[in-house]
Amino acid sequence: MNNGFPDNFLWGGATAASQVEGGYDQGGKGLDTQDCKPQYFNLTSKEKNDWKYKQMTSEKYELAKTVKGIANYPFRFGSQEYTHFKEDIALFAEMGMKIYRLSISWARIYPNGDDEEPNQEGLQYYHNVFDECHKYGIKIFVTILHYAVPVHLVDAYGGWKNRKLIDLYVKYAKTLFENFKDDVDYWLPFNEINAGRFNPYNGVALIKDREPNYDLAVYQSLHHQFVANAKVVKLAHEMIPGSKIGCMIARFCHYPATCDPADQLTWLHDEQYTNWFYTDVMARGAYPKYMQRYFDEHHIQIQMEPEDADLLKNYTVDFISFSYYFTQVSTASDDWAKTDGNLVIANKNPYLKSSEWGWQMDPTGLRITLNELYDRYQKPLFVAENGLGAHDTVENGKIHDPYRSEYLLSHAKAMKEAIKDGVDLFGYTWWGIIDLVSCGSIEMCKRYGMIYVDADDEGHGTFNRLKKDSFYTYQNLIATNGSEL
Ligand code: BG6
Repeated sequence: MNNGFPDNFLWGGATAASQVEGGYDQGGKGLDTQDCKPQYFNLTSKEKNDWKYKQMTSEKYELAKTVKGIANYPFRFGSQEYTHFKEDIALFAEMGMKIYRLSISWARIYPNGDDEEPNQEGLQYYHNVFDECHKYGIKIFVTILHYAVPVHLVDAYGGWKNRKLIDLYVKYAKTLFENFKDDVDYWLPFNEINAGRFNPYNGVALIKDREPNYDLAVYQSLHHQFVANAKVVKLAHEMIPGSKIGCMIARFCHYPATCDPADQLTWLHDEQYTNWFYTDVMARGAYPKYMQRYFDEHHIQIQMEPEDADLLKNYTVDFISFSYYFTQVSTASDDWAKTDGNLVIANKNPYLKSSEWGWQMDPTGLRITLNELYDRYQKPLFVAENGLGAHDTVENGKIHDPYRSEYLLSHAKAMKEAIKDGVDLFGYTWWGIIDLVSCGSIEMCKRYGMIYVDADDEGHGTFNRLKKDSFYTYQNLIATNGSEL
């Protein structure tokens, strides 16, 4: 039996360019889809999380493109890592982080997405970031696409439903491999690829009111991402021998509400349609049979090219990563109580406590998830995101956040148990290691960081950094490699 975390376990932190960088129009960066997501500051917290305010519409999108400046577009200011990266990476090093998961902004490298030549200033920015990480011996895990797509690709091509996006994306990835092959330790083509289904604007750059056949557009777009994923796996292995390239989903762990067979069947379908489908394609290399039945019953006919099946089969991923925040209940009943959660609205579990944003916290579910994934695929696993969004209060220059430390330690303990169960888990990156703009609720006050950023929802503040109490909890967890858990 393994006793716990291996010596070389990769403890780290994660961010995404659109949420942390800011500098949305600096260094030659083009406008992207996240820069266009508005926030309405006069809404209550509940309203902000209501889908009707969060859903991207053509009207909101077209308006955003005409507005200059940060106005009510929080992704445009982020946490200003674009100008603070040296200070941030020094703090990551002080914490003891072994790995930093960050994303590259497509629109910083190809401002329109289909430009002939890459933007040298954008490439230089990431060279500088990577050099800074190397200075402290911090390894690098790059997400090639974390939701933010250059707006020109929506306007001229209609987003990922257009097959031409595959080649444009592969060209972008090739540029990254050429430039950063000696810098990056782990590559990830797509953040939470299943977002294409649960949030198509984020995942596949679709605007719902423009799609007469929305479901088909979603699955067609996902197919293009699967093919792009396979092509990029192939390219990485050819261009960077020995490179490690993985996949990622937002992993939604479900429990059947009761032992009623109807609930069990709902649970099976929930697991298949929200989780397994994606990892089955990218790790096993083919569309699973259960999806064919789903597509037939929902009249979804995906256009596939003859070479696609071979690409999927021959270029599967080296490792599987996932985000894990909460668990939910599967039930055949229509009137089960719901959470206020904003990644997805979930069925309530009476045995779990929820975060202030209605996410049901469940460390045991992480152990279960790790076991299920490893059992099915037998590939190394990486927890790419896990964290707690909460309001924090600054008192005399200190932030006491025992809730965040508790969340961290309970999930770390669950990972340790999974490793003892025999799971091959090689890393963990806390989301977001530094406060950043929340992706779902588009606000700064939903803070995940162990490093505080002095900025409010509207971007007012000094943007100074402060260490929270949880900073020291994680520092000790890393230094002791989980042996005190
Ligand atoms: C994941 C995303 O879904 O959840 C991140 O990859 C996101 O981008 C994180 O920030 C937490 O969600 P939220 O909505 O609280 O920011």
